[in-house]
Amino acid sequence: MEKKTKAVKRTDLKQKETYHHSIGQTIRYLSHYMHGYWKDTIITWCAVLIESICEVLVVYFMQDLIDSVQNLGTSNSLNSVYLYAGIMALCALVAVGAGIVAGIFAASASAGFGKNLREAMFVHIQDYSFRNIDKFSTSSIVTRTTTDVTNVQNAVLMIIRAVVRAPFLMIIALIMCFITDWKLAWIFVILIPIVLFALMGLAKVVHPYFVKVFNTYDALNESVEENVDGIRVVKSFNREDDQIHRFKGVSDLIYRCFFRTESIINFNSPIMQGSVYTAELLIAYFASYQIVQHHPVSFDGSVMNVGKLSTLITYIMLIMMSLMLISMVYTMIIVGRNSSERIVEILEEKPEIVSPSEPLMNVPNGEVDFEDVSYAYVKGKPVLNHINVKVPSGATIGILGPTGSSKTTLVSLIARLYDVNEGQVLVGGHNVKDYDLKVLRDAVAVVLQKNTLFTGTIRDNLKWGNENATDEEIQKACDVAQVTPFLKDMPQGLDTQISQGGTNVSGGQKQRLCIARALLKNPKILILDDSTSACDTHTDALIREGLQHERTDVTKFIIAQRVLSVKDCDEIWVMNEGHIVDRGNSETLMKTSQVYRELYESQLGGGDFDASK
Ligand SMILES: Nc1ncnc2c1ncn2[C@@H]1O[C@H](COP(=O)(O)OP(=O)(O)O)[C@@H](O)[C@H]1O
Ligand SMILES: [Mg+2]
Repeated sequence: MEKKTKAVKRTDLKQKETYHHSIGQTIRYLSHYMHGYWKDTIITWCAVLIESICEVLVVYFMQDLIDSVQNLGTSNSLNSVYLYAGIMALCALVAVGAGIVAGIFAASASAGFGKNLREAMFVHIQDYSFRNIDKFSTSSIVTRTTTDVTNVQNAVLMIIRAVVRAPFLMIIALIMCFITDWKLAWIFVILIPIVLFALMGLAKVVHPYFVKVFNTYDALNESVEENVDGIRVVKSFNREDDQIHRFKGVSDLIYRCFFRTESIINFNSPIMQGSVYTAELLIAYFASYQIVQHHPVSFDGSVMNVGKLSTLITYIMLIMMSLMLISMVYTMIIVGRNSSERIVEILEEKPEIVSPSEPLMNVPNGEVDFEDVSYAYVKGKPVLNHINVKVPSGATIGILGPTGSSKTTLVSLIARLYDVNEGQVLVGGHNVKDYDLKVLRDAVAVVLQKNTLFTGTIRDNLKWGNENATDEEIQKACDVAQVTPFLKDMPQGLDTQISQGGTNVSGGQKQRLCIARALLKNPKILILDDSTSACDTHTDALIREGLQHERTDVTKFIIAQRVLSVKDCDEIWVMNEGHIVDRGNSETLMKTSQVYRELYESQLGGGDFDASK
């Protein structure tokens, strides 16, 4: 129960989001993504127009047909019955054909629009910095590029046809009503605004529930994504019940919102039916009164008759149909608005980290210089405070510190994964912000703490580091990263398939593959963020040894939990709460740093064994 209210509360919070754009602005913004499909849209509109004209003609000739049937006693009248029936059949045929054409092209236009939108979002997301991604959360980005785009695409599919059909049918039917019998047409003039007003009112009532539904979708997806992504953890902690409970809470909220929305939308039908019957009754009453009385009712002295009456009733149906279409479009706009706004937010998000206009295209060496660097993820809560430290090119730096001491944050600044708030980070003597982003990130290889392999062969994955890497280079990187020993045991060697997320290799093997991938970039700076944590100490030592001998000119940052992993570094930084509290080589730190000495003694206590063995 507690979890349930938590989920509900979170969505309530999101409720307070306000729209950045008016409906008109959003439509205009999104209409750009019709490019390449305007032709289909225009063909749809033409076809819909033909369809609607034919439909009205069918009704129009119906009156003549009925009149001819009534006058069957006189000569030639059977011929005119055939004529009108023929014309009507032809019109109906054309209407059906045009309807099919309209359906096909509307589908193409809306699907093309969805495709453009999805692609534009995906391309744009590639430019996002880590901070941009933090802002939306991964699951929300996924919902927005999938569910939300599908919503808008479906809305476009319906709107594209209705937007021409509804007003056309309405206007033509009204005109025809006036032509057929102007004195009875007033019934519509009164009825239409009332119905429209009722429908709009309905849509307004429903709106907040729709907003709630779509916001809750984010929570739902987050729940599913987190659960499936972490299914192994969930199972090992026996948390299935808790997860199911959490999911049910969100799912239940969606059920209630949908139930509410659909119940309210259901009133659509009685409003429509009620108005149709009212109009029919009124017209039937007045018309039959006149028919019985044989009162001339038009200026031209024409008389109300059964043909006119049935035509009028068919026009009522046409007008009501167009009203229904209008109310549907209105509902679609309301449903689509929330999704549209969420899509526009993704597209309008400014990538925070971009290359400068005249970038440096070469990183001269691996020197790194932090000058008075501070950083905060959340305003007012700095996680790095005035860091001043210089690392010569080719040095090996070890970083120790408890979790949360900002080790990852500090090294992330070197590759501009985040931008400093204060001070500057220099690489090769230049501010990182002066480099072309691609050039900088090619020179700074980061093996992230939370790493990912992609679906494909091991070779494909390694080539991410360098597309043009030769087999020889790959072999060498695999030797240094200690991939070779386990690669030998794999039946297809480098061509072994990695399954999604790299679940078919062990944690340590995955880490070693990630290191090999980074080495293939031939970086000037190599950052290993806890990258050998899942490897045994022996492998760990072999990797370090390999790096030291094979990549002497590369500046290396090794973040580790084990003292053993950093013991032989040129310099070790001990970090705590966003500060480098102690610096020096192992020997110095044993004398000067109490934290280091305690760590050393607890981990390597007593034994003076050689790390490299
Ligand atoms: N993406 C993020 N958004 C907000 N806060 C973060 C983010 N990443 C890390 N932090 C916070 O910054 C601090 C330092 O984190 P981090 O650099 O990952 O530490 P370490 O690598 O030493 O464990 C922690 O308090 C953590 O909660
Ligand atoms: Mg970390």
